[in-house]
Amino acid sequence: MVNQTFILIKPDGLKKSLTGNILTRLSETKLEIVASRIVKVSKELAEAHYYHMKDKPFFNELMRYIMGELHDRRKVMAMIYWGDNAIQKVRDLCGATNPEEADSVSIRGAYGRITTAGVYENVIHTSANSEDAQREIKLWFEPNEVIVDIYPTKEVVENNIKRRIWA
Ligand code: PPS
Repeated sequence: MVNQTFILIKPDGLKKSLTGNILTRLSETKLEIVASRIVKVSKELAEAHYYHMKDKPFFNELMRYIMGELHDRRKVMAMIYWGDNAIQKVRDLCGATNPEEADSVSIRGAYGRITTAGVYENVIHTSANSEDAQREIKLWFEPNEVIVDIYPTKEVVENNIKRRIWA
């Protein structure tokens, strides 16, 4: 089944110059990149992305991590990969969320670590399932930034300017 998944190369991945390595590993999936942006993550975006982790003891550190405050790299690379079984293929390649449990040849197993504060610095995020993929893609991207039609959209007019938003 063709589907789409959301991927973030996190600030530690950028700081450690792993972007090229990670993209090369991702190309093993033969999936297509259908959207990409470099994003300076605001507190609001970080909180919305990890809303389900709000009650965790490491939430504040997780916010600092994804906003780039731990690596002096205030940016992430956000992407959408699309194609046959995209969600599962990318999850398999990334490995387990906990980098200590991830297969050593997976991206997280090869490059991740756990900080002394207990936060997983696992260099990459990818959607867990199709519901998460939809929520995350709609949070990080606008329809006109994606080169294939993946979810329904609608046109709105603001200040006489037409714009397409997620329906
Ligand atoms: S998953 O694999 O995405 O389904 O995991 P989920 O439980 O939904 O999300 C957990 C995210 O929090 C990050 N994180 C940690 N989780 C558990 N324990 C610790 N100590 C911890 N530190 C950080 C974890 O990396 C997941 O984020 P992503 O971006 O998916 O890696």
